[in-house]
Amino acid sequence: MKTILFATSNPHKVREGNKIAREFGIRFEQINVDYPEIRDENIRKIAAEGVKFVFERIKKPVIVEDTGLFIDALNGFPGPYSAYVYKKIGCEGILKLLQDSDNRDAEFITAIGFKDSSTLRIFEGRISGTISKEKRGTAGFGYDPIFIPKSLDKTFAEDPEMKDRISHRRNAFYKFCQWFSNHLR
Ligand code: IMP
Repeated sequence: MKTILFATSNPHKVREGNKIAREFGIRFEQINVDYPEIRDENIRKIAAEGVKFVFERIKKPVIVEDTGLFIDALNGFPGPYSAYVYKKIGCEGILKLLQDSDNRDAEFITAIGFKDSSTLRIFEGRISGTISKEKRGTAGFGYDPIFIPKSLDKTFAEDPEMKDRISHRRNAFYKFCQWFSNHLR
C-alpha cells in the first residue's frame, strides 16, 4: 500500500478518494495544511496554485482537490466560488435563485493537483445533472442534497453508493490513481 498526503480540511473528500484508491493499492492520508485559494474562473488553476503552495511548505508528494458546482441558468455560478456561496446561502439559497427557472442543468467539476519534486499534474473529473426542486437525502455533504445526476432520479445525498460509483470526484481520482500507479514504477 502506497500512502500519499492529501491536504484538505474535508474528511468526506478523503473517504471518497480512498474508496477508489484502494483498488490501486493507494491510500490517502489527510493533512490539514491551509493554502490560499486564488481567485480564478478555472478550478484547474486553483488546484495547481494550491498544491504548489502546499508542496513548498511540506516538501513531500501531495495532492489537493478543488470542486465547483457550475449551474447553467446562473452562467456557471457558483463555480469556483462554491465554498463561499455554500457558507453564505447553502442549498436553500441555490434553490431560491433557481425557483423561477425551468433550466436546472448543472455540472460538478473536480480538479486534483499533484506535486512532487519533479512533477506538477492536474486531473479533472466531471458529472452532469440537474438541481432538484427541494433538498432530499441526508448522506454526503455540501450540495449533495440538491444534485441529481443525469438520467437518474435520486440526489447524491439519497444514494451515496451511486455517488461513489459515478461522481465527479470518482472520475478525477480514478484518473489520478491510474497515472500515479505508473508514476511510481
Ligand atoms: P471545495 O472544493 O472544498 O472548495 O468545495 C467547494 C464547495 O462545494 C464546498 O461548499 C463543498 O461543500 C461543495 N462540494 C465539494 N464537493 C462536493 C460534492 O462532492 N458534493 C456536494 N458538494 C460538494
